[in-house]
Amino acid sequence: MSRPGRAGRLFRSLYARLALVYLASLIVMSLGTAWIAVGQFDHLGREWLQRSQLNLASNLKHVLEAPLSAGVDSAGTNEAAKRIMTINPALSLYVLDAHGKVIDAYGHGKCGVGQTISLTAIHELLSAMPMLPVYATVPCHGGKNVFSAAPVTIGPAHTPGYLFVVLEAKTHMSMVGMWQTSSISRSLLIAGGVALLLSAGLGLLLFALLTRRFSRLTRAVQRFARGDYSQRIEPVADDEIGQASRAFNELAATIEAQLGALRENDRQRRELVANLSHDFRTPLTSLRGYAQQLRAGLSSTEHNQREQLDAILNNVSRLSHLADQLSLLARVDVSERPLRIDTFPFAELAHDIAGKFGPQAHDAGVALSVECADTTLQVAADLEMIDRALTNLVDNALRATAPGGRVQIRAHAEAGDLAVSVIDDGVGLSAEELPLVTQRFYRTASGRTPGDGTGLGLAIVAEICERHDSRLTLVSTPGAGTQANFRLALA
Ligand SMILES: Nc1ncnc2c1ncn2[C@@H]1O[C@H](COP(=O)(O)OP(=O)(O)OP(=O)(O)O)[C@@H](O)[C@H]1O
Ligand SMILES: [Mg+2]
Repeated sequence: MSRPGRAGRLFRSLYARLALVYLASLIVMSLGTAWIAVGQFDHLGREWLQRSQLNLASNLKHVLEAPLSAGVDSAGTNEAAKRIMTINPALSLYVLDAHGKVIDAYGHGKCGVGQTISLTAIHELLSAMPMLPVYATVPCHGGKNVFSAAPVTIGPAHTPGYLFVVLEAKTHMSMVGMWQTSSISRSLLIAGGVALLLSAGLGLLLFALLTRRFSRLTRAVQRFARGDYSQRIEPVADDEIGQASRAFNELAATIEAQLGALRENDRQRRELVANLSHDFRTPLTSLRGYAQQLRAGLSSTEHNQREQLDAILNNVSRLSHLADQLSLLARVDVSERPLRIDTFPFAELAHDIAGKFGPQAHDAGVALSVECADTTLQVAADLEMIDRALTNLVDNALRATAPGGRVQIRAHAEAGDLAVSVIDDGVGLSAEELPLVTQRFYRTASGRTPGDGTGLGLAIVAEICERHDSRLTLVSTPGAGTQANFRLALA
């Protein structure tokens, strides 16, 4: 799976998500508020119009009441209405009967006559404390609008009715219209915009501060997970992040203390193994000496005793070998013993080892050889450890190879290193055994004959290679042989 790029990571970050959600909700809320405000502006305009013209109908009544007593369509009434409309052409004037039915209309032909106006609206407006704006359905062109009304008497019989005046309000405006023509709207829009920008800026800053602390905590946890156990976070506040930081610090301190205790335990265990295996040597040497003396003193007829002493000597040498391997493993283990890097010609060491194993190879009928094309090649490594590694590998190879077989120590320069191999044409290792043989105490079925090794040899070689920043690799074909490889730095 490919890792997301820097931009991808930023987009997926908590900060980006919080900022996006916050900005989106801020924009939605601002647009909603603006939309509601524009609508309320329209109502506010009509309310002010109605409030300022509340007594308009009562005032007009003084002009119209006398002509109205002659009838709604009398010349006097038409003349008075005409004069009013000339002074204020924005008005629409109606006379209603007591049930709200329009009995005459002035100014726009006779449009609206016969329609009925809600008396509830008129009564609300005429009440002592009307809740403005009060809307009524406008006769003629329909729709709701603010109005003024006053009770009047009509005709010679003084029938009660109402004078109904529709106040034409040009209050509805688009946002652009408001911006262009209303200084109050402009100020409000500017204030709203500034408030929006300020909230966005403050919100983003706050999120940045919060998520920065969170990121710091995450980074500390990641570094801790990578092995830097000294990581701690200074909790700057007592909020949730502060509490998480404190909990992390406590956890880190506990883990660090436990790791320290484990390391100390491990060190003590290794020291014990090293000391014990070392202390085994002297009694074992003495045991071997006495057993050899006893064996030498036996007459040729004492077959039984000779066999028993042979078994004792055999077991003594197994024990010595185990003690040696354990002591070595304890020493190379986990960087306990510092490496002693020397510069030495590898070919010389290879020949020494071949010489050391010469008699064993001869007895086993195996041809042991060294192939180093350039005998002058020097390596920088711990001589004692590399000696031990090669010894273990050649020992294994000789044990695995049948009489008539070949074992070879091979080395050649490759990409600035010395590539070293120990090659045999012995029994080989199966695919299942191959990854297991470098584990401590693991021995293959063919290798588990009494008197043979401890299962520590390859584990020691692997450890030595690792300490030299190298890696032991094994290539093997069952029945065809094994090749053990590692690399050393050329001096
Ligand atoms: N070249 C090889 N060919 C076949 N088998 C091998 C080879 N090298 C190691 N083995 C097998 O791998 C197992 C582990 O080897 P390792 O060297 O770790 O232990 P060991 O030889 O049993 O004991 P020690 O090396 O301590 O004497 C052994 O059982 C051995 O038989
Ligand atoms: Mg071995």
